[in-house]
Amino acid sequence: MLQLGALLLLLLLGGPLWASDANEHFELSTHCPPALRLDESGRCRLYSQYLNYRSLYDRGVGGLRTGLPAVRDGFTPAQIDLGRYLFFDPLLSGNSDIACSSCHDPALGFSDGLAQSIGATGEPIKRSAPSLWNVAFLEKLLWDGSKRSLEEQMLGPLYADDEMAGSPESLVQKLSENDHYPALFAEAYDGDEGKGHREGEITLDRIYTALVAFESSLISLNSRYDLYAHGVHSALTEPEIEGLNVFRSFVARCAECHTPPLFTNQQIAVLGVPEKMGRPLDPGAAATSGDPSQRAGFRVPSLRNVVLTKPYMHAGNFDTLRETVAFYTGGRGHAVPEGEDLKLHWHIWDPQLTDQELDRVVDFLGALTDQSFMPEIPVTLPSGLAPGRAADSTISETGSALAVMATARDDD
Ligand code: HEC
Ligand code: HEC
Repeated sequence: MLQLGALLLLLLLGGPLWASDANEHFELSTHCPPALRLDESGRCRLYSQYLNYRSLYDRGVGGLRTGLPAVRDGFTPAQIDLGRYLFFDPLLSGNSDIACSSCHDPALGFSDGLAQSIGATGEPIKRSAPSLWNVAFLEKLLWDGSKRSLEEQMLGPLYADDEMAGSPESLVQKLSENDHYPALFAEAYDGDEGKGHREGEITLDRIYTALVAFESSLISLNSRYDLYAHGVHSALTEPEIEGLNVFRSFVARCAECHTPPLFTNQQIAVLGVPEKMGRPLDPGAAATSGDPSQRAGFRVPSLRNVVLTKPYMHAGNFDTLRETVAFYTGGRGHAVPEGEDLKLHWHIWDPQLTDQELDRVVDFLGALTDQSFMPEIPVTLPSGLAPGRAADSTISETGSALAVMATARDDD
């Protein structure tokens, strides 16, 4: 009730919060987000201590000072900032009610807290929304690893009937008819006119590029683990160091697949994770690659910011991190349904970790949290719509009237 009162007060003072205001002025940033630095050609390039280390592939697994895989960077500050508006804007969906951020909410580690995301139809879709932190480094996207670029991947959510349910034509049309977007596209693609584009022209390529530019700016490589890896021993507590040592031991073998510094080797692996009651086995990578040995195989997920993105596994199969970690010590193939002959990965075996060791691994995973380069969530959008947020997003930004609205709605 209190929140409802606050909402009414806001409404009285400020008028309708969601009304489009044609006089609103939007300007794109001229600065790179904090993980990136401007180069001589005006493009943002990754800046990280990890770039000083040698390649990932000529060091033992679990090594602290291992390099990163290739990164998507080289976008301009304006393109990244335009992508930020597009990412949060429900205008991109068929019914103008769902944005990328509705399922990839910054307050929930760029996921949505759901076992299976809910899109335009209101029905749960097959799998859970992965975090988008560090997606700039991934060579294989989606749980089944079937998409090879961020551009290719986003066609799924943008146009699938059960996700954002848009169409390429209406997407271009809605953005082109908007009061602000044409000027913002002109700013973001300034100097591009010679290449067959009109100034401010809104094309699918430009929309996709801006979204990729924003996604690729979500870098998280400054956790306490990273400080430790760079040589600051005191950055981790004793229990966390114990956990790290279990994690990279040959007994537990976690680092064989969750290889630092990204905590994924980006391979498909068959684990035999149990589906929740009543759910049929997800064929995983086999369905898209056609390779039967990949039945129930999934791309190894990164574990960065993993404490923020419960529930876990491809469809929220486990509610807590402790249960997830305990899965690995349940015995090789213990949860494989009868009649299935899965080709389990050779590093999935029976390490018989003690309860204490499992607790320490969970402690260690907590040290992989870093949201210091969190982008700003727009308060107003060029469309005048409220930025898309996950249903149970606990919004804590100051000045966000939307937080009040969301709580008021829950109270009803
Ligand atoms: C309805 C919820 C929903 C919306 C809206 C949505 N996504 Fe997703 N996203 C998901 C789910 C679920 C997956 C995993 C699907 C799978 O692997 O089968 C996913 C996967 C991804 C991935 C792959 C991440 C990885 O680790 O492989 C990227 C990148 C991504 N989404 C970006 C976007 C962008 C950009 C938008 C907006 C254009 C968007 N998503 C809109 C739910 C959503
Ligand atoms: C053979 C490769 C492999 C090994 C070894 C491995 N994992 Fe995984 N891990 C995966 C794959 C693949 C998934 C996703 C499986 C799924 O969704 O069904 C996963 C998922 C996870 C998740 C859930 C992540 C999320 O975002 O939902 C956690 C946590 C995790 N692993 C921790 C560990 C720990 C701790 C160890 C060591 C005890 C370990 N893993 C060993 C491949 C591996």
